[in-house]
Amino acid sequence: MAIIIDDYGKVFTLHTKSTTYQMKADGQNVLLHAYYGERTDNSDKSLLSYRADRGFSGNPYQVGKHDRTYSLDSLPQEYSVFGTGDYRITALRVQNGDGSQAAELCYDGYQVRKGKYAVPGLPAVYGGEEAETLAVRLKDPYSCLEVELYYGVFEELDVITRAVKITNKGEGAVLLQKAATVNLDWEWGDFQWISFYGRHSMEMNMQRENIHHGVQSIGSVRGISSHQYNPFMILCEKGANEAMGGCYGFSFLYSGEFLMEAEKNQFGRTRLVCGIHPDNFAWTLEPEGVLWLPEVMMTYSGSGMGQMSRNFHKAIREHVCRGEWRDKRRPILINNWEATYFNFTGDDLVAIAREAKKLGVELFVMDDGWFGKREDDNSGLGDWTPNEKKLGCTLRELVERIHGEGMQFGIWLEPEGISEDSDLYRSHPEWAVNVPGRKPCLSRNQLILDFSREDVQDHIIKQISDLLDKVPITYVKWDMNRAVCDKFSRVLPPERQGEFAHRYVLGLYRVLEELTSRFPKVLIEGCAGGGGRFDAGMLYYTPQIWGSDTTDAVERLSIQYGASFGYPVSAMGSHVSTVPNHQTGRETPLFTRGCLAMAGTFGYELDVDKMTREEKAIVREQVETFKKYYHLLQHGDYYRITTPFEGSCTVWEVASPSGTEALISAVYHHVQPNPVMSWVKVQGLKEESKYQLFLYEGLMEDYPEEKLPYGFRPGEYISGASLKHSGFVLPSAVNEFQAWQVYIKECEE
Ligand code: GLA
Repeated sequence: MAIIIDDYGKVFTLHTKSTTYQMKADGQNVLLHAYYGERTDNSDKSLLSYRADRGFSGNPYQVGKHDRTYSLDSLPQEYSVFGTGDYRITALRVQNGDGSQAAELCYDGYQVRKGKYAVPGLPAVYGGEEAETLAVRLKDPYSCLEVELYYGVFEELDVITRAVKITNKGEGAVLLQKAATVNLDWEWGDFQWISFYGRHSMEMNMQRENIHHGVQSIGSVRGISSHQYNPFMILCEKGANEAMGGCYGFSFLYSGEFLMEAEKNQFGRTRLVCGIHPDNFAWTLEPEGVLWLPEVMMTYSGSGMGQMSRNFHKAIREHVCRGEWRDKRRPILINNWEATYFNFTGDDLVAIAREAKKLGVELFVMDDGWFGKREDDNSGLGDWTPNEKKLGCTLRELVERIHGEGMQFGIWLEPEGISEDSDLYRSHPEWAVNVPGRKPCLSRNQLILDFSREDVQDHIIKQISDLLDKVPITYVKWDMNRAVCDKFSRVLPPERQGEFAHRYVLGLYRVLEELTSRFPKVLIEGCAGGGGRFDAGMLYYTPQIWGSDTTDAVERLSIQYGASFGYPVSAMGSHVSTVPNHQTGRETPLFTRGCLAMAGTFGYELDVDKMTREEKAIVREQVETFKKYYHLLQHGDYYRITTPFEGSCTVWEVASPSGTEALISAVYHHVQPNPVMSWVKVQGLKEESKYQLFLYEGLMEDYPEEKLPYGFRPGEYISGASLKHSGFVLPSAVNEFQAWQVYIKECEE
């Protein structure tokens, strides 16, 4: 049993393989948070909480007369509310019918069951027998607002999920002004917090700071989870690194506006609150009205960030991503975007597909520009009818031609987008998001469809279904190329406009759920100008997401490094593109670009026709390497060995869970004269076994054997213990951005 409840039904202890989480309904019926961290026993840890009479930290009426040490302002709580004596950041803020903002949540019972709860209309981590559910009910005795806290316990994964269901059991309407999913309190507070900030084309930059007095936060008010801050964060001990120290990870399964805030209070205690961003949120709950809050997935590792990341990788790969493409090998694709941009004909596309096929590529993706009036990004969005003049044939004929070349076919769509210059806008201007009577803010000269509207959702479902019914399409790139502002929906009454942002996301999820169940064989890759909606919520519908509009291998080093903290390789859309790189002008070796693409879903985005014979030979080899090591690359245990920000070489590793093989990739981001050698200590192998090392770099046959470092010469064996503790030395680089791949395999001597 992963969920243990004491004999009085008051202490709830959740155990996973290596962690324990505990809460307790105390004598005042307040649900206290007691513990989250390294696995321990079931003893009541709330008893460790220190209480004293604290000036200006008030006491609830019923205890205040005889006990001034009991204060909601200092006690660690499981789900905090605004307005009744807790002055910290809080999870829930309501406005009652009389205009007051008071709420008081008292413990009101619990339920435990096998299996994992679902969150209606929203993505959620799933699991059958592998999970257990605890639901704890809290109720405001005055307003009768009911809050049910849901916990999903995945013992083997070391993952605990949280979601919340709010029901208005009272007689009048209640306005939810803020409704976060997670409140987590610690008795101590000397943490650091790691977040991932960025911008279009440069996502996932890592930032590590001390939690300090005051409130620190990351979030999005952009309608999408955003390039600016990823809805994922880490709270860790100060000295924590890849292999040591306590780390908590929080991943929000939500693709809209979010807020993750932390506060160290006057007593040095830390509180974390995480959920929907309250700035664009005001939700009216009529009597019997219900609102489910999106799920947060949490994990804790007492042994550093590497393990924390691996917990998330496995959970996302096996319990968030769904459908046929969760486990099936995804096709190696070529996308024409950087090869042609808007300027192509059907013949051009067929030529790219034909050449790519010869190199082993399996799927051709026709990117933006194939539909309506779309010669550039100023028009056409919304008109998903093929431009037959430009293609020189019907879409079906084009697909047949691509199939004829032995390639599968994929297509780009931006279903949420609408251009003013489009037939859709001309016939339904009211479907575009804007505030009536005001001019909307343009972005990429486009608007956004009001996905909170059911008629818009139905229209998109129909359009895409018709397309997928008529034409054999294996893959869809679901793009979304602007942030949402001017938030307003013509179908919502004035007092419900604060529901727009969340309703938009619910609408998007409805459309995606409908399409993925109607077309389970279609692989959808998410995208929002690259990583503008790179979140675990989207991964529930689209098992991969285009990581960034930057395809430069060196910039991808840090983007993919950042993403690896919370997301698996199988989620990261990554392609080899041409040099000089279109975003940076940088030249990197083709082999290096391949290494970076293999740290993702792997594919190409260039004109193969323009490649030299040598380059094509390298591509052929890359494709073979990717296929050969697919199981390791996409399903192996991932280790960050060094970072792109220090030293001269960025190294990462994927190892088979059984420890029989590993693949190491190393990219020199800084070539030095008379270099310091780069050592790699290999992780995840069996210490008692013997291994052989195989080195790859482009066409390796030519590499002079006598120059190879120890361990790489044919016939040499190294023990797992030696590789782990002493490591091996990488060949030094002679060219800028040179890369190596080292395959390590268990062998009989
Ligand atoms: C976005 C995507 C790109 C490409 C363009 C097409 O920016 O991220 O990969 O599809 O749109 O307009």
